Amino acid sequence: MNQVDYLRISLIDRCNFRCQYCMPEGAELDYILRQELLTNEELLTLLKEVFIPVGFSKFRLTGGEPLLRPGVVDLVSAIASLPQTEDLAMTTNAFFLAGMAQNLYDAGLRRINISLDSLNPETFDQIIGNRGRSRWEQTWEGIQAAHRVGFDPLKLNVVVIPGVNDPEVLDLAALTIDRHWHVRFIEFMPIGNDKLFGERAWVPSEELRQRIREVFGLTESTIRGNGPADVFQIPGALGTLGFISQMSECFCDRCNRMRLSADGWLRPCLLNESNQINLKTALRTGVDPVDLRAQVRHLLMIKPEINFKQRDSGTTGTYTRTMSQIGG
Ligand code: GTP
Ligand code: 5AD
Ligand code: SF4
Repeated sequence: MNQVDYLRISLIDRCNFRCQYCMPEGAELDYILRQELLTNEELLTLLKEVFIPVGFSKFRLTGGEPLLRPGVVDLVSAIASLPQTEDLAMTTNAFFLAGMAQNLYDAGLRRINISLDSLNPETFDQIIGNRGRSRWEQTWEGIQAAHRVGFDPLKLNVVVIPGVNDPEVLDLAALTIDRHWHVRFIEFMPIGNDKLFGERAWVPSEELRQRIREVFGLTESTIRGNGPADVFQIPGALGTLGFISQMSECFCDRCNRMRLSADGWLRPCLLNESNQINLKTALRTGVDPVDLRAQVRHLLMIKPEINFKQRDSGTTGTYTRTMSQIGG
């Protein structure tokens, strides 16, 4: 079994964007009430007394949009200064990043993944559900700020939607030629909104690789992250291309992670809704950390089996929570 030492922590389920594949406009979302969010203190207690003793040492802060969480810089600083933290990363939409990148870096954040589905402001606004003044430029400024401040690696996530942004795949891939960036193409997962793009909602990674190969060439990279991406490179490029292919391939056997939602639900797998435990409720009702560690160890033990089984139904199953609620 793969070592599971990576916890994805959702800080908030709200977002200032409405990406069609994540929390589309009009979707009825029951936002987590403020008093139901894990507080910073509760989160740190869980890390120190439960997750770290059980063997977790890598943490990623996600959302919704994690930069909307009040006190996020202090939280980064507190997690980064835990002696057992080996890796601290964030996944963000970058809209608020220009003004926060330096503070986050100074607080100890080093790795950042940013959603950027299009280089074309109109397409971008269409995907993120924006109707007012374009949000592309401020997002791009956030990415530039992260680059200047020195986040390394800097990864850009592109969920490829047929007929919407898939014509831009070559332009997005070309960003890696003279930048030390990692552009990752993600197959859309029908989570929480399975009817959204109809029957053929995703483009297989192999098809994208073929298109990129024909124009730029493509070699498999020796660089391997600790995530689900298969990594390739345009020959001579400074950056890399990643392909996250949860629909056309199965990477469950190398899965190294669990997910903690903003209201304290720990789920062993993105696709698993039935084996969650609520650590916030447990903390608030005074359950001993020794018992919580035992419960987390139990989830770790059953994780691979759940993962594969759920996978089979994962492409057609219905989910009560959207990606923004689970933590993307
Ligand atoms: P690093 O490799 O540490 O940079 O992380 P990552 O690539 O996993 O992080 P990121 O938040 O950028 O995730 C990118 C996408 O990968 C997500 O939006 C999902 O589409 C997919 N993904 C991440 N973890 C899982 C997982 O456990 N299961 C599945 N099916 N997809 C995942
Ligand atoms: N399928 C695949 N990726 C998704 N993301 C959000 N929703 C989906 C989905 N349905 C990705 C976004 C973002 C990350 C947090 O999750 O691209 O980078
Ligand atoms: Fe917000 Fe990210 Fe979801 Fe888009 S994908 S709505 S930016 S949480």
